[in-house]
Amino acid sequence: MDSDPRGTESEQSVKVDLTVNDKQITADVEDRMLLVHFLRDVAGLTATNIGCDTTSCGACTVLLDGESVKSCTVLAAQAGGHEITTVEGLARDGGIDKSVAIEAARRYHIDDVLAAPEQTSDPGVA
Ligand code: FES
Repeated sequence: MDSDPRGTESEQSVKVDLTVNDKQITADVEDRMLLVHFLRDVAGLTATNIGCDTTSCGACTVLLDGESVKSCTVLAAQAGGHEITTVEGLARDGGIDKSVAIEAARRYHIDDVLAAPEQTSDPGVA
């Protein structure tokens, strides 16, 4: 990051080259852009959500080289050269691999997710 004559820090762009859901994506982005914003705004993958501003909810969880990470805690530039898998990348035959959600819930201690009963589409059904 450069300093301008007024003493404030100016933004600088960096080239980010990474693989998202088996697709190569290269883009020039602000050096401080978070991976979650890269995925949503550059790659157009909006299933990766922003659920808090305290890095505590896990709504932004993705796989980085197979390991779950909170993408709001990773700079897009740090993810360069790595493989990212989002929820969209886990879709198989119209469904989602629930093991990733369960792993994220365990890792980030989101016990409510693990304990939540199955939801039905008809709230009147017991
Ligand atoms: S948005 Fe909540 S942990 Fe990343």
